[in-house]
Amino acid sequence: MNKLAQQLMGWVDDRFPATKMYKEHLSEYYAPKNFNFWYFFGSLALLVLVIQIVTGIFLVMHYKPDASLNASGIPVAFASVEYIMRDVPGGWIIRYMHSTGASAFFIVVYLHMFRGLLYGSYRKPRELIWLFGVGIFLCLMAEAFFGYLLPWGQMSGWGAQVIVNLFEAIPVIGKDLSIWIRGDFVVSDATLNRFFSFHVIAIPLVLIGLVAAHIIALHEVGSNNPDGVEIKKHKDANGIPLDGIPFHPYYTVKDIFGVVVFLMVFSAIIFFMPEGGGYFLEYNNFVPYDQLQTPPHIAPVWYFTPYYSILRATTSDFLPWLMALVAATGGLTLLTARNSLVRIIAAVLSIAVLLGLLTLEAKVWGVVMMGGSVMLFALLPWLDQSPVKSIRYKGSLFKSILAVWVVCFLILGYLGVLPPSPTGKIVSQVCSILYLAFFAFMPWYSRMDKTLPVPERVTSE
Ligand code: HEM
Repeated sequence: MNKLAQQLMGWVDDRFPATKMYKEHLSEYYAPKNFNFWYFFGSLALLVLVIQIVTGIFLVMHYKPDASLNASGIPVAFASVEYIMRDVPGGWIIRYMHSTGASAFFIVVYLHMFRGLLYGSYRKPRELIWLFGVGIFLCLMAEAFFGYLLPWGQMSGWGAQVIVNLFEAIPVIGKDLSIWIRGDFVVSDATLNRFFSFHVIAIPLVLIGLVAAHIIALHEVGSNNPDGVEIKKHKDANGIPLDGIPFHPYYTVKDIFGVVVFLMVFSAIIFFMPEGGGYFLEYNNFVPYDQLQTPPHIAPVWYFTPYYSILRATTSDFLPWLMALVAATGGLTLLTARNSLVRIIAAVLSIAVLLGLLTLEAKVWGVVMMGGSVMLFALLPWLDQSPVKSIRYKGSLFKSILAVWVVCFLILGYLGVLPPSPTGKIVSQVCSILYLAFFAFMPWYSRMDKTLPVPERVTSE
């Protein structure tokens, strides 16, 4: 650094901890030296977040959240998206980056979460990183749901109608609640305006706050790694972890490589198949929303379909399966828990849920199952009782159960895009039960699993 630059930096540092932060979070932040392919997805998630915000800002310059009809009888919101696609210079690429970006976001975040499952990154001391992550995931889902209404196509309107109607299942307040959410009896201009407001400001603010908390928590405890060993246990005389390397330049360079590969794939999709064969942008959404004409098949976008399948699987003939699952987990907790408080809570909860399953409609349970199947991720740090963190040292029991769970998740996702069918229903019921059982029985199978000895230091470089 030349003298003038040094003086300038000194002036800033006296007033703002720029150099201190640069050292703490980049040049002297020691990350494990054995990061692999799976560690690309955190920085890629950050990249996609920036892409979504920047393209979103430009879209808002031309988009109009207005459901009234223009002179040609087309809803203004729908027409404004068409205007962006056809008339705004570069509008088409901005719009496709944003709409395809939503799917890219979920692909990257699902892989990022799966890495957490593989290496037990949710385990102590990283529970809060994980919980902030689950908060981020919920916000992402809300953000995608609100955003999908904005182009005001058939799937936008009818998808929102189906999901908001789910709230009607809630006993007593359900009907009023769904009217309150929509601001009308059907999805209308009032709904569009409030969804727009949530999509462009409320959720992004929470999302950015949660991402900041996620990274602050990560830098407080340090990253996990594919071996699941704590690098802070072995430090040199200067207090630097022996298995750590400075984040900058080593991982900044590695992450730039990931960014380049990602941008190549992302560009190829945007230029050659931006609608992703109807999976990223559904074909029915190129038809303006018509409150009087229901499309023959309403399906959410692919990233919601595993949970949507669980919702559809929860019919009245599915409730006995759920009762068996609740009775089994409750019974096992009573038999095996050493803490009497845990036993009391398990007994009360199981009886309450069993009574609920006997008395409340399947529709209510469908909604509970759909929400619950996402919320279960939040319990992972406490459900996983394995003595080891990383899949590398877990036994065949855990590995096989994880593999079955992944297959079930994919099947549920696939079935969720298809129209309902009797075979699809049975398959989705089996997969839903297995999906839930993965979480419900984890405290037991993770302890029974025959694990391998964990090395003291990281093994690969
Ligand atoms: C906008 C979305 C997200 C962003 C921008 C983001 C960003 C990051 C970054 C930059 C890292 C450090 C680099 C890495 O380990 O890959 C990280 C780590 C981590 N993230 Fe996320 N994340 C997001 C969503 C999530 C979600 C949804 C979860 C889980 C539910 C999650 C769980 C974790 C965990 C457990 C770690 C620590 C991993 C380890 O040390 O092995 N993140 N995240």
